[in-house]
Amino acid sequence: MSRDPNPLAPGSVVGVTEDMIHTLVHTFYGRVRSDPLLGPIFEGAVEDWDGHLGKLCSFWSSVTLMTGRYHGTPMRAHALLPGIAAHHFEHWLDIFRATARDICPPEAAALFIDRAGRIAQSLEMGIALHRGQMLGLGDRLTAGPTSPPTAPPTRLQSRE
Ligand code: HEM
Repeated sequence: MSRDPNPLAPGSVVGVTEDMIHTLVHTFYGRVRSDPLLGPIFEGAVEDWDGHLGKLCSFWSSVTLMTGRYHGTPMRAHALLPGIAAHHFEHWLDIFRATARDICPPEAAALFIDRAGRIAQSLEMGIALHRGQMLGLGDRLTAGPTSPPTAPPTRLQSRE
């Protein structure tokens, strides 16, 4: 069930608002879509961009403002993407950090950046497990033996 922002949520404390999340999400995915490394992955997987952006606004609202608006399964969505490896995550995080610093006041940017880094790390470990690999301390996700380098990513169903 959706709630108003929790006044004790980490985002409330540093001034995150739904408007800020909207601007961050839309600016970030605008940059990602025109990025040579990540753009083709998203264009191959996302059919409904309005739905995707709405889902990501709900996601960040839940993570930072504890509104409970997001009800998706990020691990499943990413585990189904073939060929994703550590350098994709590094580049995603580079763009996300730069965008957060452009859009948000410093304390809010630091919160988004911290949470994105932690979630990226857990997604990387989850994808590795899904591929039958166990990442040890300091190990990073590789593209995996079964990933077709030129095949388009799997199309995923939007759940929102
Ligand atoms: C290598 C980096 C990443 C790539 C290439 C990537 C790509 C994608 C793609 C293609 C989708 C599916 C969209 C759709 O089917 O509609 C997706 C969904 C999503 N991504 Fe990522 N992503 C990356 C990293 C991240 C990170 C670090 C986060 C969180 C901090 C994140 C959060 C999400 C969420 C919440 C969804 C929606 C899942 C759902 O409920 O269906 N992604 N991503």
